[in-house]
Amino acid sequence: MILQLKHIFKNYGDPLKNNFRKVLDDLNLEVYTNQKIAIAGPSGSGKTTLLNLIGTLDQADSGEIAFKGTNITGYSQKELAHFRNQELGFVFQMHHLLPQCTLWENVLLPTLPIKGIAGKAEKDWAEYLLRKVGIWELRNQKPSSLSGGECQRTAVVRALINKPQLILADEPTGALDENNADNLAELLNHISSEEGVSLIVVTHSSDLASQMDQVYNLKNGKLI
Ligand SMILES: Nc1ncnc2c1ncn2[C@@H]1O[C@H](COP(=O)(O)OP(=O)(O)OP(=O)(O)O)[C@@H](O)[C@H]1O
Ligand SMILES: [Mg+2]
Repeated sequence: MILQLKHIFKNYGDPLKNNFRKVLDDLNLEVYTNQKIAIAGPSGSGKTTLLNLIGTLDQADSGEIAFKGTNITGYSQKELAHFRNQELGFVFQMHHLLPQCTLWENVLLPTLPIKGIAGKAEKDWAEYLLRKVGIWELRNQKPSSLSGGECQRTAVVRALINKPQLILADEPTGALDENNADNLAELLNHISSEEGVSLIVVTHSSDLASQMDQVYNLKNGKLI
């Protein structure tokens, strides 16, 4: 098992005021190595909140998150930063590429905190991935001169550059047309199978969800 969430509770706001929002309510989840899961659910049901907790970008009010059997809820900030950089790949709905950097620089960025400079192995891997998703020729362009789909594909390559064990994707096809959405779904699916990466994808697309091993619905703070 790669990931286990036990009895996760997460609320926002002050329980005594009307800004109180109960979001995750005794939520449990198990994800196996190589497993691909989709999470659906209405807007506001807590899908992004859940991904942020798994991605250690936010903290649960209570409950335990274990990664490969280790409880990560007690990690220090430094351990968390290392964990996020080495074990996780993030694909956000808005791709969050750096506008001043070329596509090539953007995808190599996550390799820098460890070595300070991208080595031959990292560059070869980046080239392999960029060719695979069909944007190698675009590597010297900046995000402003790329299409939405090309930026999304760049973001997927960036998420894979450190060979993570787990990819977290928040509506990765939400901003794309049908054709680009299909391509990106196929790519995520393919790479996760080929590289043995587990995948948690939040999506409204029944097409993308149908390509996953398991589909959950987030409802009343629990996964069904
Ligand atoms: N930082 C915050 N402070 C207060 N409330 C928040 C905060 N972040 C999210 N919420 C509330 O928590 C609930 C869940 O939000 P979340 O972003 O997880 O929903 P979601 O399922 O991702 O929705 P969508 O499909 O629209 O992206 C919403 O009601 C939202 O308003
Ligand atoms: Mg969301």
